[in-house]
Amino acid sequence: MIQDGADPQAQTKAAQALRRGELLGLPTETVYGLAADACNDQAVAAIFAAKGRPMDHPLIVHVANAQGVLHFAREVPDFAARLIAAFWPGPLTLILPRRPGVAGAAAGGQDSVGLRCPSHPVAQAVLQQAYALGVLGVAAPSANAFGRVSPTTAAHVVSEFGGNLMVLDGGACAVGIESTIIDCTRGAPVLLRPGLLTTQALSLACGQVVQLSTALQGQLDPQAPRASGTLASHYAPRAQVRLIEGQDMATQLQGWTQAAAKERLALWTRTPVSIPAALAHRVQQYAMPADAVACAHELFARLRAFDDQDVDHIWVQSPPDEPAWEGVLDRLRRAAALVR
Ligand code: TXA
Ligand code: MG
Repeated sequence: MIQDGADPQAQTKAAQALRRGELLGLPTETVYGLAADACNDQAVAAIFAAKGRPMDHPLIVHVANAQGVLHFAREVPDFAARLIAAFWPGPLTLILPRRPGVAGAAAGGQDSVGLRCPSHPVAQAVLQQAYALGVLGVAAPSANAFGRVSPTTAAHVVSEFGGNLMVLDGGACAVGIESTIIDCTRGAPVLLRPGLLTTQALSLACGQVVQLSTALQGQLDPQAPRASGTLASHYAPRAQVRLIEGQDMATQLQGWTQAAAKERLALWTRTPVSIPAALAHRVQQYAMPADAVACAHELFARLRAFDDQDVDHIWVQSPPDEPAWEGVLDRLRRAAALVR
């Protein structure tokens, strides 16, 4: 059932539910999480089961503040401390060496742990109250079935897990794509998943150049642990997604006229394209925001809306090749399963 996340009573109930080992739909500024006590192995197992996620794919542990890191991380390199100082609370996850014996199930058995301090006021309130009850950290993957589009509203979470799950409604997530992930276990910062924060801004804040994981360059990363967000075809809607350069859209549409007689197509474009009359009844066009931040905010809700309309294909105009678009481009490539 959906509850008003701003209601202090609902927040208290949520913290108590976490303490009892129950699952909860929790809003964050990035996407909604499926939350449970990170140190309760049974609760963590219930997250994996609900999502249909393999048990060796590690979960992010959410903490109320920077001090919370000390419960889970064995050490914090200087560059990681600088990132924490610059971007927490906020949409940044750091992979740090894990304290032995702590949150092993949440970490998928790895000797590292992903830590994040979210800024959403509802997440903050619940994390602080849960901490006071003895919950040191809250494991929360995105609240979607494994491989599906992440939820950015409380209604999305209900559509994934049904009405029995308690979901705190914190409105539509401001950021709209998952946190940036930086691996801090390799002696230098390595970007595993792009998000709202640009690599430039991260490098500037930590005083070192943030390298791209080779997985983000289209190759296998031998050092990377199994990371579900880095699988091809992650974040995929049911409809088939293609990324198409703006100048090629019209030609592609012409070619499609004969190709798929009954199928329906949705276009998401920054540059409007004229739709041939013969296709007018089965092609819809929606405006894609020209600004990367606005586009990220809308992205997953848009993909879900297209699925709800039962379109067969989604063609998205390729975003500009600019740093601000890194995160959106990454999610679109995965939705189109272009990243191997
Ligand atoms: O914005 C977010 O990060 C959201 C909200 C709810 O906080 N959470 C999220 O969780 O996106 P999830 O589980 O959908 O994605 C977590 C990613 C996965 O790709 C996982 O493999 C990676 O983080 N990860 C977690 N712990 C890790 C670790 N110890 N080493 C490497 N990757 C890790
Ligand atoms: Mg996810």
